[in-house]
Amino acid sequence: MTRRFKGKVMVVTGAAQGIGRLVAEQAAAEGARVLILDRSAARKEVVAAIREASGEAEALSVNLETWSGCDKGIQKAVDLWGRIDILVNNVGGTIWAKPFEHYEPKQIDAELRRSLFPTLYCCRAAIERMLPQGAGVIVNVSSIATRGLNRVPYAAAKGGVNAITASLAWEVAERGIRVVATAPGGTEAPPRVVPRNPNAETEQREDWYRTIVDQTIQSSFMKRYGTLDEQAGPILFLASDDASYITGVTVPVGGGDLG
Ligand SMILES: NC(=O)c1ccc[n+]([C@@H]2O[C@H](COP(=O)([O-])OP(=O)(O)OC[C@H]3O[C@@H](n4cnc5c(N)ncnc54)[C@H](O)[C@@H]3O)[C@@H](O)[C@H]2O)c1
Repeated sequence: MTRRFKGKVMVVTGAAQGIGRLVAEQAAAEGARVLILDRSAARKEVVAAIREASGEAEALSVNLETWSGCDKGIQKAVDLWGRIDILVNNVGGTIWAKPFEHYEPKQIDAELRRSLFPTLYCCRAAIERMLPQGAGVIVNVSSIATRGLNRVPYAAAKGGVNAITASLAWEVAERGIRVVATAPGGTEAPPRVVPRNPNAETEQREDWYRTIVDQTIQSSFMKRYGTLDEQAGPILFLASDDASYITGVTVPVGGGDLG
């Protein structure tokens, strides 16, 4: 096992399950001190698993759809360990799957709050602490669904994440900070402990969701979903010094689907 993150302070948002959890666990195994920001109680299980494996981790429950939650969360890393070296903005995910004409305005707002604002606010909170350090890395988790069916508001949010990545990277590159992103394709994961949408799905909604699955597989050259490992690996590569000359780009991780 390499130790690319020895002594580094890393914040991972939405790390109670899925891609974020694996990123947190693998970074801790490579020496990072990891702070998990997640409002689900499942975050405690991840901290316990990391400590069990002799890693260092803490967790805080905050609502990352608010500025105060993001600011409090990033400050926690500084309070714990005096700095923040790496931020992985992983919170997001489409809440509804349906043709655009069926979205209610309040649902459009909710999608942007879930998949754009946590990244926008956490970038702002982190940059304020990284700039005086003269160093830092932000990895945003976007999506290849910036071109996809039955999730236009989510696509808009992730398009915003790509824009943040390019524009913020340019602003801060000469001050020692890199801002990069991955755009995952469809990813197989165990059933979610924390559902994206806690309301029961109707038959029609299942059909709309099936369209997403079919389109995702069709758009991938490899005609399959990826694994959690296939998503965590590129995120950690971009977060590491192995990617020290890479900034401002969103790397598609979708088996050939460029989004
Ligand atoms: N899973 C996929 O197939 C896939 C595909 C493309 C992109 N992505 C992107 O990858 C990222 C991770 O996806 P996933 O499926 O692994 O995540 P997930 O939906 O399984 O988990 C998200 C986590 O974020 C937490 N969270 C949600 N809203 C929060 C809030 N307001 N405040 C604090 N915590 C909050 C949840 O508690 C949960 O632990 C997302 O940004 C998603 O858009 C995922």
